[in-house]
Amino acid sequence: MTRVRKAVLPVAGLGTRILPAAKTTPKNLLNVFDRPLLSHVVAEGRAAGIEHFIFIVGRGQGGIEDYFDRGYELEAELAAKGKTEILEAVRADLPRPGEMSFVRQMSPLGLGHAVWCARDLIGDEPFAVMLPDMLMDATPAALAQAVEAHDAVGGNIVVVEPAPPGEAHKYGIVSLGGVAEGFGGRLAAMTGMVEKPPPGTEPSNLFISGRYILQPRIFEALAAHERGAGGEIQLTDAMLRLLKSQEFHALRYEGATYDCGDPVGLLRANVAYAMKHPTLAGAAREAVTRLLSGDGLAGH
Ligand code: UTP
Repeated sequence: MTRVRKAVLPVAGLGTRILPAAKTTPKNLLNVFDRPLLSHVVAEGRAAGIEHFIFIVGRGQGGIEDYFDRGYELEAELAAKGKTEILEAVRADLPRPGEMSFVRQMSPLGLGHAVWCARDLIGDEPFAVMLPDMLMDATPAALAQAVEAHDAVGGNIVVVEPAPPGEAHKYGIVSLGGVAEGFGGRLAAMTGMVEKPPPGTEPSNLFISGRYILQPRIFEALAAHERGAGGEIQLTDAMLRLLKSQEFHALRYEGATYDCGDPVGLLRANVAYAMKHPTLAGAAREAVTRLLSGDGLAGH
């Protein structure tokens, strides 16, 4: 079984749901409590054994590359002031030489097109796709759970989770076949996918939640550049084409997902990560509790 070493992180979308916050700050650099969203997602990838992160970036997203680069002045100032802990935190996300690549998607033609832009860097090996606006809090890391499933059954893996009751029609929903051995019944053959099925027609309540392991043949399906829903080149359309000739499994992962591409999801993520911060959780809980009781509205 070929090991999954590379991950594609498409970040070139317009982020319309979270404008104007994402107008000048790339959506994926928005804050989740004490660090940018991308910092959490890269940590998840590293925990899953990813050795090469391929970002698909758009115009005005140079801040992402800068975030993952040395900040010489800042680091020198922190060192001179003896602020060692902060300096370490600032450096913690920095890549090893060659660990990150940046590919420009010159027009946001869709997620499928974004993934296709990585074809030459991926080459002929299975790879992960991580949608970084979906923050997935899990132990083991969500992508590590997908890698484990790939190690067991090979082929293509799609991470899924139950949609909130009555909301399946808002998502990309999978249909399932036989359950695979192990994984507590959470890994099953995937027989189909449907984008936003009309209420009452959903084949299951499980939606595709932002982590995939794909075989390189997906690039053949993406090369057709066929436009799908919303006039965009959709990854799901290419996956449906590949499903005719390759195995797909859906893994119901164990963890909590926060859709940070939406202001309320980003708020939920901030509160959840504040509540489990190693040193600030107590103060954060107190602040949130006071706000909820109406006591903190004066500003302190
Ligand atoms: P979304 O559709 O969820 O993100 O795409 P978006 O387009 O940024 O956000 P909204 O819907 O307008 O609010 C899923 C992922 O695919 C990336 C996005 O950046 C996001 O991480 N994407 C989407 C691209 O990289 N390129 C595209 O052309 C489209």
